[in-house]
Amino acid sequence: MMKLVFTVCLLTVIYQSSHLAKSSKSEGKSIKFSYLQILREKRLVNEKRIARYNDIVGVSSSNVIGYSNGNDSFISNEDNYLYGIYMGIKWQCVEYARRWTFLRKSSIFESVNGANDMWNQLKYIENVVEKKKYPLKKHSNGHRNRPINESYLIYPIQKDMPYGHVAIIVDVLTNSIRVAEQNFYFHYWKGNYSREIPILFKNGLYYIEDKYQVYGWIEINDNKQLKPLDKLTIETIEKKNKFFLNSASYYQKSNFIFFTLFIYNLMLFQYLHL
Ligand SMILES: *[C@@H]1O[C@H](CO)[C@@H](O)[C@H](O)[C@H]1NC(C)=O
Ligand SMILES: *[C@@H]1O[C@H](CO)[C@@H](O)[C@H](O)[C@H]1NC(C)=O
Ligand SMILES: *[C@@H]1O[C@H](CO)[C@@H](O)[C@H](O)[C@H]1NC(C)=O
Repeated sequence: MMKLVFTVCLLTVIYQSSHLAKSSKSEGKSIKFSYLQILREKRLVNEKRIARYNDIVGVSSSNVIGYSNGNDSFISNEDNYLYGIYMGIKWQCVEYARRWTFLRKSSIFESVNGANDMWNQLKYIENVVEKKKYPLKKHSNGHRNRPINESYLIYPIQKDMPYGHVAIIVDVLTNSIRVAEQNFYFHYWKGNYSREIPILFKNGLYYIEDKYQVYGWIEINDNKQLKPLDKLTIETIEKKNKFFLNSASYYQKSNFIFFTLFIYNLMLFQYLHL
C-alpha cells in the first residue's frame, strides 16, 4: 500500500516537473528539474506578479517603503504628507525620492514639475528643522568617478518617460549599482532594492548602463552630517504643525466673529435709518 502511494506521488512529481519544463522558457535546454528548482521557479513567477496601486512592493534603506503605482499611465492626483510635510503625488517616482530624502536625511527638496527637471533645477536639499541647505552636485553619465551611494539617478524625458525618471542609488557594487524607486516596474522587489543596473568602465570613465538614457547622478554634499529622521525631529515638526494649526483655527474663529459683528452693524445701521 505505502509503495503504491509513494509511486503515485513520484509519478505526480515527475509529471509536474516535465510539464513545468515544457512550459518554461528554458525549453529545449534539457534541464532536469529537481523539486527545489520547481519551488524556485514558482517563486520567481510570484515575484513577477504585478502589484496593484497602493500595494507595498518593497522596503529600502531600512524604512523607505516603495508603493506600487499600478501602471505607468496612472496619475492618482492624491497628495502624500508625512508629519504634515508634503512628499509628492502617490506613488510617483519623485514622491519616493523626496520621502527617501526626508526619512534618511531629515531634508526635502523643492517642488519640481517632473523628475526630468531635477537635473537642471535642484541645487540643494534643505534640512526640515534647521532649514540649513546642503548643496547637490551633478555627475554626468560617463564620469571619472564611480557612481556614489545615496545619490539621485536622473533620467531625461524619453520614450515611455514623459516626465523623465528618478531612482535612488542605494548600493554600489564592483560592477553594478542597486536602486530603489517607484513607478518604473510594478512587481514586488526581490530584496531591499528594485533594480540592479550594470556599471561600465570605459576609457577612464564610469557609465551607468541602463536600457534607458541616463542624465547622470546627483550627489548630496553633506559631509555625512545629515542623519535619518529621528523621534526628536518628528516631535519638533509636530509641535510646529500644531502651533500652525492652532493659529489657523484661531484666525478662522476671529474671522467669524468679525463677520458676525459686520452683519450686526449692517442690520443696526439699516434699522436706525428706517
Ligand atoms: C540591503 O541588505 C543588505 C544585506 O542585508 C545590506 O548589506 C545593505 O546595506 C542593504 N541596503 C539597503 C539600501 O537597505
Ligand atoms: C492603470 O491603473 C489605474 C488604477 O489602478 C486603472 O484605473 C487604469 O485602468 C490602469 N490603466 C491601464 C492602461 O492599465
Ligand atoms: C549605501 O547606503 C545604504 C544606506 O542608504 C547602506 O545600507 C549601504 O550599505 C550603502 N552601500 C555601500 C556600498 O556603501
